[in-house]
Amino acid sequence: MKRLVSGVKPTGEVHLGNYVGAMRRFVTLAGQYESFVFLADYHALTTVRDAALLKKQTRELAAAYLAVGLDPKKTVLFRQSDVPEHAELAWILNCVTPMPTLQRAHAFKDAAAKKKEINVGIFDYPVLMAADILMYRAVVVPVGKDQVQHVEIAREIAKRFHTEFGAEVFTLPEPLIEKGTETVPGIDGQKMSKSYGNVIPLFASAEETKKRVMRITTDSRAPAEPKDKKDTLYALHKVFSSAAAMKKVDAAYDNGGLGYKELKELLADEINAQLSDIRARYDDLIADPKKLDKVLADGGECARAEAQKMMKTVREAVGLQ
Ligand code: TYM
Repeated sequence: MKRLVSGVKPTGEVHLGNYVGAMRRFVTLAGQYESFVFLADYHALTTVRDAALLKKQTRELAAAYLAVGLDPKKTVLFRQSDVPEHAELAWILNCVTPMPTLQRAHAFKDAAAKKKEINVGIFDYPVLMAADILMYRAVVVPVGKDQVQHVEIAREIAKRFHTEFGAEVFTLPEPLIEKGTETVPGIDGQKMSKSYGNVIPLFASAEETKKRVMRITTDSRAPAEPKDKKDTLYALHKVFSSAAAMKKVDAAYDNGGLGYKELKELLADEINAQLSDIRARYDDLIADPKKLDKVLADGGECARAEAQKMMKTVREAVGLQ
């Protein structure tokens, strides 16, 4: 079976963008690929500065993966930092990565444009990500659109390594994007993102979900008027609403007849209905940290054995003894 690799950072509340753009796809793709899915805690260190918080968020993310239905028997689920070979491979890849490749990465350019203080970890983020992907010979990397450039950089680094060392040790990965969920908007219409403060959390209560949905930005059209299908509310209905609900929504957008308040209430009901089982499972899982630790320890062991095999090949190829 071909290999799949992907990860999520434990940097805050998991949100609906992470869920539909990435996490729920790991579950459906697990039957088609040999899957390695991880918690990107080394990547989280580029921003998190609180050890207890990082541990808490890592535990929450582990519970989230299992709650959405990831089966650790079918998917190797592990913490990135349990496989320190990722950091070793990143160093070796650093040595073949041209600075300009990283200077044109969107995340770095955005941070630089906003005159944010940038640490070397942020600048080097794509190289660690390349190491995550190339380590397991992944053929596909299911991600949201914001991560496509990073997968392309991983390909570029692999090719460069092959040329410079004359050894074809890596598999060239492809990003796997799902049409329709590649960029889920947040309540303000920008991409849903932890750093924009516009998220609907995956594990919020039904009331909190409704509160956030009621804050979705809309224009001032009256209930009787037709509405603009390019708006954020419609985009979120497209992602979360059932066919039956979509019929009502389409009728209201085409011909009028429902106000934004009703359309938002409908969206909140659809999201809450779709997530109620996942949310109940999460509450049970988070109450059992021993079980989570065991799943991650087993996954870590399995991933590390694979990583050590790859590192033997890489060390050989570059001349490290
Ligand atoms: P993170 O935690 O920022 O995002 C995790 C995944 O969620 C997707 N995503 C979205 N998809 C659709 N709409 C949105 N609004 C939205 N917001 C986030 C992201 O595209 C991503 O797939 N750098 C990665 C973590 C990582 C990784 C890797 C991924 C580290 N190493 C190796 C794949 C392979 C990230 O952005 O995490």
